[in-house]
Amino acid sequence: MSGGSTIWGGRFGGGPSEIMEEINASIGFDRRLYAQDIAASMAHCRMLARAGIISEADAKSILDGLAKIRDEIEAGSFTFRRDLEDIHMNVESRLTDLIGEAAGRLHTARSRNDQVATDFKLWVRDAFDRLDLGLQALQQALIDRAETHAADVLPGFTHLQSAQPVTLGHHLLAYVEMTGRDRGRAKDARARMNESPLGAAALAGTSFPIDREMTAREMGFDRPCANSLDAVSDRDFALEYLSTAAIAATHLSRLAEEMVIWSSAQFGFVKLPDSFSTGSSIMPQKRNPDAAELVRAKAGRVIGDLNALLIVMKGLPLAYSKDMQDDKEPLFEAADTLDLCLAAMTGMITDVTFDTDRMRASTALGFITATDLADWLVRVLGLPFRQAHHVTGALVKMAEDRGIDLDQLSLQDMQTVEPGITEDLFSVLGVASSVASRTSFGGTAPDNVRAAVAEARRRFLHGEAG
Ligand code: ARG
Repeated sequence: MSGGSTIWGGRFGGGPSEIMEEINASIGFDRRLYAQDIAASMAHCRMLARAGIISEADAKSILDGLAKIRDEIEAGSFTFRRDLEDIHMNVESRLTDLIGEAAGRLHTARSRNDQVATDFKLWVRDAFDRLDLGLQALQQALIDRAETHAADVLPGFTHLQSAQPVTLGHHLLAYVEMTGRDRGRAKDARARMNESPLGAAALAGTSFPIDREMTAREMGFDRPCANSLDAVSDRDFALEYLSTAAIAATHLSRLAEEMVIWSSAQFGFVKLPDSFSTGSSIMPQKRNPDAAELVRAKAGRVIGDLNALLIVMKGLPLAYSKDMQDDKEPLFEAADTLDLCLAAMTGMITDVTFDTDRMRASTALGFITATDLADWLVRVLGLPFRQAHHVTGALVKMAEDRGIDLDQLSLQDMQTVEPGITEDLFSVLGVASSVASRTSFGGTAPDNVRAAVAEARRRFLHGEAG
């Protein structure tokens, strides 16, 4: 064995205790909970004094010390120590440096188990609020662009094959609905999680006469968690954040995928803004949709983060187990990733140039108004839809064989397939009349889109979200 002094080897020169410290410490990531940790400690301290569990004098020096620690951390002058494991012990140790013995009274009627659950909940609650704002900003961008393009046509696809013409505004508003459901999920989960674990102590509650209502209220929780075992071992709030985030990231990924496809030379439906594309180091003509591709890729991370925490939790008996310390990194990663992806997509949607001429030209491919033709046969000639479908198929084949579009067939040609067809049929073969006819509720007609834009503003932008 060359190098290390033990069979654990190489890089852990200090032996088992150093390995233990490295695997055990969470300060590398849970320092992000410092503001929540200090706020929760302040609430706990005030409650202890009010309940007569600690003296007013001790409470005052604890509160002053905690405020000073917050300043030190924010000024970057605080020294985080890995040997002190986590944010809770780092703060408490510094408090002892600052105020001496009274610091030791803060941890009365509390455990790191209820402390970390409280801190983490406060952080996740803020993350939900940030997520809602980010989703709303994207909705705003989508709605604004949808209004401008309420009547511009493009091919609608199923199986990525030309299906029926739709309006661009309608297409964009589909994403407004998706993000609206994401916001609804965030709102539901935030309401459900808003109960305070503080005072559950290690797992069983405490013999001190604490006031959990008071600390809950002070931290903006609706009430204390009802069961102390559940309070310290519940991570549903993190799982609900992650599942909401995974679904939202999936939506962003689908939108990103459309930007990738639409920006290709073959489609040419959009020109991505310079700010969200890059050039190639070798092919001068290229303009790569990197930001969209990365949004698409990063959805994978967020989905992975949800999986990671589900797997951490699935084997844990009540109550706290140290496994739960591993809840934070996936959550932080997912929140950071999603915030970034939302900002990128919002920027992209705001600045993208839609090539509406190119979109309209593309509707000339693929006999896109064939359904309108079939509907005309049903409406005007009274054919059963199945028969109309058959007749239309024959006409499409005729046009295809000749390499022309449906509206380039002559009336005589059409009448060889279905004698009842009249000149009037040609009026439904244009894409503008096709989309204008789709006036059923939720349909793609420009007038519907204009109404849907107004409705979306009311539902999502003017305080009626959810
Ligand atoms: N750093 C720990 C965590 O994040 C704090 C709770 C420690 N509790 C314990 N009983 N060791 O989970």
